[in-house]
Amino acid sequence: MGPPLRLSTSRALHLPAPRSQASSSSSSSWAKVLSTTQSALRGGADASRRESRWVASSPLRTFGRRRDFAGIARSVATTTTISRSDIITADPKNNVTDNIFQKLGVNLHHRKDHPLGIIKGAIFQYFEESAPGKFKLFEDLYPVVTTKQNFDELLIPADHISRSDNDTYYVNSETVLRCHTSAHQAELLREKHDNFLVIGDVYRRDTIDATHYPVFHQMEGVKIFDPSEWEAAGMSEVEFVERDLKQTLEGLAKRLFGDVECRWVDAYFPFTDPSIELEIFFNGEWLEVLGCGVMQQKILDENYGEGKKAWAFGLGIERLAMILFDIPDIRLFWSGDERFLKQFKAGDLRTKFKSFSKFPPCNKDVSFWISDDFTENNLCETIRGIAGDIVEEVKLIDEFTNPKKGKTSHCYRIVYRSMERSLTDEEINSVQDDVRR
Ligand code: DAH
Repeated sequence: MGPPLRLSTSRALHLPAPRSQASSSSSSSWAKVLSTTQSALRGGADASRRESRWVASSPLRTFGRRRDFAGIARSVATTTTISRSDIITADPKNNVTDNIFQKLGVNLHHRKDHPLGIIKGAIFQYFEESAPGKFKLFEDLYPVVTTKQNFDELLIPADHISRSDNDTYYVNSETVLRCHTSAHQAELLREKHDNFLVIGDVYRRDTIDATHYPVFHQMEGVKIFDPSEWEAAGMSEVEFVERDLKQTLEGLAKRLFGDVECRWVDAYFPFTDPSIELEIFFNGEWLEVLGCGVMQQKILDENYGEGKKAWAFGLGIERLAMILFDIPDIRLFWSGDERFLKQFKAGDLRTKFKSFSKFPPCNKDVSFWISDDFTENNLCETIRGIAGDIVEEVKLIDEFTNPKKGKTSHCYRIVYRSMERSLTDEEINSVQDDVRR
């Protein structure tokens, strides 16, 4: 088994309970930003104004500074190319780094033999078998969304922690890198899709350890029900929808993990009520695998139409893959090393990852006085910016407040270790010198 997978797929989003209702931010430039992003999704006229290029059919591979996306799934496949200047801007709110920009458009989930592609394939196949032809899969939705899509339309309160620029990557005050695939729920409901799955890369600022990486992948699922269905079953609407949700997701867990024991735990998400989480008993411990619930009626009524009921779920693909395949470190998903990639095969859920090396870690400590605006996420972003994927963990090991000066110093241990090779002293010392500066 890999390291303890203690943190949820959903981290910030189910904490804390709401203090106020969502405010739909309505600044004067709002409409423009919204239509820009929407037209980027749909290949409208605005797309070219943003240096985005729509070309017929995929896959246009570019390199370096330009990234490609297939457009929203529809009859004609299209791609858009987005340049660095679209994403890393001079806007005071912009906090996207080059490291993050490099990840846009990589789309690991499109690789069939990659652990993420294998999990995607298995989940889609499960839904396809349980309801042939019913669930539509969206796997190329553009990851740059408006704050309206990412937060407001999901009733995420205006003061919710996930909106902070310490947690979310902002392109500008109204545009973000989606921090969850739920960002597409409302738009797909407005397009009248009633059973759908969305998979894609999501972005969150975070600290560094073996289970956290600022980019990971999620799968979202939504299913809508008609009154005739719960009436025929002689059940209340919520009871009926919740029963279907639980059956569906327990079935999915068993498809992926074998005949595991499942249990349901109450949760909180702004966009569902009731909200629950599924845990499975696997390799001797209870592990949280996904969050879900009955969709908030307001979301359904305002975007799809009244009189229906729906469930929704969201799960983290890396997390499932780490549990299932015994992958010990989340950085491995980004590895191009054949010794990693060759171990996985499309359709094979029973692979157990065999460590091909145990390179020694190298620990280096840094201490400094912290300022009022210091955050660990910012520190980790800086360290990743300098050292890239050779940083395995950053942990606070000592803290001291000088009572006279009222100043606090932190000491962090940075653990350097490559998944692929031995690091030289020289290399680490030079990186560490840069970090110290
Ligand atoms: N969006 C949530 C997250 O990233 C996960 C989630 C929970 C999605 C419940 C849902 C849901 O659709 O109903 O934390």
